[in-house]
Amino acid sequence: MCRETFQVRYDRYRGAVEEALQQLFLRNRPYGRLQEAMRYSLLAGGKRVRPVMTLAFCEALGGEPRRALPLGVALECVHTYSLIHDDLPCMDDDDLRRGKPTCHRVYGETLAVLAGDALQAEAFRIISLASGLTAEQRLDAVQALASACGGDGMVAGQVLDMDGLPHDEAYLRDLCLRKTGGLLAAAADLGCIAAGADGEVRQQAAEYARHIGLAFQIRDDMLDVIANEEEFGKPVGSDREEGRRTFVDLLGLEGCGELVTEETRLAKEAVAGFPENRFLLELADSLADRRK
Ligand code: IPE
Ligand code: IPE
Ligand code: MG
Ligand code: MG
Ligand code: MG
Repeated sequence: MCRETFQVRYDRYRGAVEEALQQLFLRNRPYGRLQEAMRYSLLAGGKRVRPVMTLAFCEALGGEPRRALPLGVALECVHTYSLIHDDLPCMDDDDLRRGKPTCHRVYGETLAVLAGDALQAEAFRIISLASGLTAEQRLDAVQALASACGGDGMVAGQVLDMDGLPHDEAYLRDLCLRKTGGLLAAAADLGCIAAGADGEVRQQAAEYARHIGLAFQIRDDMLDVIANEEEFGKPVGSDREEGRRTFVDLLGLEGCGELVTEETRLAKEAVAGFPENRFLLELADSLADRRK
């Protein structure tokens, strides 16, 4: 049998996620604009890195990816909520997301806030109803996702990002690990949970994803300076305009490039002992020099 290439496997996972997302929030309701706003942002065409990682970990650990699918879908709902809120005028005040006008530009601020709120709650409903998983797996998944996005996770990272003051490397690492690393660590962990992996494997997977998370956010900060806006799908120069102090201010572009390389190496090292790790290694490399 010929070996499935990295891109074919990525597209297989992404296709499954896309199809599942398409089924969400289609109910006919008097407040249909809420569903419309949720679907507008959810289906605007992100890379789906997080759910892809969830399915990849599940399969790498011998599980059936379809069991992990609701967990990946829930995570993508939380991620999309975080993007809708991140773009609001009270936060990054951005007009472009995933190559389209941001949610609040199309539906207004009130509905954008509420669409984000609803996406977050719906994510946990989706996990609670995941039929291919045991009650214990669903509970573990709720805990993993809640800690990643909650008051010590992504939301805390967003708070640390808001002050606009210069910071040292330790502060920025902590900020990025909470803001971005948390949801990526959850992505890996949800895949492990669906595969029934033990605690040690879950820790190695989380270690991989935390290094990826740091590299991912540093690359994002670099792209905020060097990207092509059309390809990037969001505004270039937004961080400077909003007074965000990122790794680019601290280390310069070259220093950031070196740190991305190092964090990617550490990520790959964390899963070196996994028997089925080829896709995870290639995923790490592909994210290190991404252009969008
Ligand atoms: C954007 O995440 C927010 C960051 C953590 C930098 P992605 O780069 O994964 O955005 P989408 O989902 O592909 O739009
Ligand atoms: C925010 O980081 C990541 C989130 C938690 C949403 P950024 O503000 O840099 O993300 P982008 O560049 O707007 O996607
Ligand atoms: Mg932001
Ligand atoms: Mg932003
Ligand atoms: Mg950014």
